Amino acid sequence: MPLIQFVSPKGGVGRTSLCVNLGVALGRLGYSVFLVDLDPQNALIRHFALPGGGEHGLIDYVDGFLSNEQSWRHLSVPLEDMLSVVPFGSSLTLPQRQASLASPGWLLPRLRSLEETSHTLVLVDTSVLHDATSAPLTQAADLTLVTLMADAGSLAILPQWEAALGAPPPAPWKAAHTDGRLGYLINQIDSRSPLKREIAEMMLERFSPELVGAIHRDEAMSEALADQRPVILQSPFSAAAHDIEQAARAVASRFPLYASGGVTATDRQSAG
Ligand SMILES: Nc1ncnc2c1ncn2[C@@H]1O[C@H](COP(=O)(O)OP(=O)(O)O)[C@@H](O)[C@H]1O
Ligand SMILES: [Mg+2]
Repeated sequence: MPLIQFVSPKGGVGRTSLCVNLGVALGRLGYSVFLVDLDPQNALIRHFALPGGGEHGLIDYVDGFLSNEQSWRHLSVPLEDMLSVVPFGSSLTLPQRQASLASPGWLLPRLRSLEETSHTLVLVDTSVLHDATSAPLTQAADLTLVTLMADAGSLAILPQWEAALGAPPPAPWKAAHTDGRLGYLINQIDSRSPLKREIAEMMLERFSPELVGAIHRDEAMSEALADQRPVILQSPFSAAAHDIEQAARAVASRFPLYASGGVTATDRQSAG
């Protein structure tokens, strides 16, 4: 069960949007995908119009008001043939939700409970805060995808990010960096602004060995969020959808499906 986590050195860069849309795109490529929201903001579910709005989620298990024996599979909300979501949930106050991540011994067994077929991909959206889940998750993740935004703000914090990768105490992402389990997504590339274009070019060059995707700034992304539909489904011919599909193929190349054409909805049903 390949585990892919989404991290970013700063918030508001599009980490959740890319997690959601890469999940949809990977589902369309034939993978069985679970999106897991590990961010106490519970924002991932807002990309989908769901009855109940993701009020219940994994946080309910952490605090034990649902049986701890149940796997997260029973909590996941099926959305499309190949895509299910495990919301974080919003049943506690935000500080309580944050506090519940302090001793995450439950995390990896619960993530593994989602395993269905050898082609199940689990995509985890994390909090921008470096919390107690970061180290165990990074150790277990087959791929850590860092989202950076092609703007002056992200450029300014890059030295800090890179120093954190190398300096003691090592950031949890260091291990992923040194053994090829780190990839970069450069988001919101704006070719109309000369400054932003220059920043994007610098970032693309700097991260080219580990680059997984370059995604243009596209209003279709915000419009899709407002309509609570992933952009891949809402505006399949938009520039953002095109870029995300390309990034999904780059991710897929790291976790190839069998030549038989991969998992099918029937495989998935029989597994569940
Ligand atoms: N490529 C893009 N083009 C335009 N807007 C984008 C793009 N990616 C993300 N956004 C917008 O940026 C905002 C923040 O995105 P979000 O995914 O919530 O970021 P994060 O999870 O990093 O906080 C949202 O309004 C989203 O629609
Ligand atoms: Mg987010």
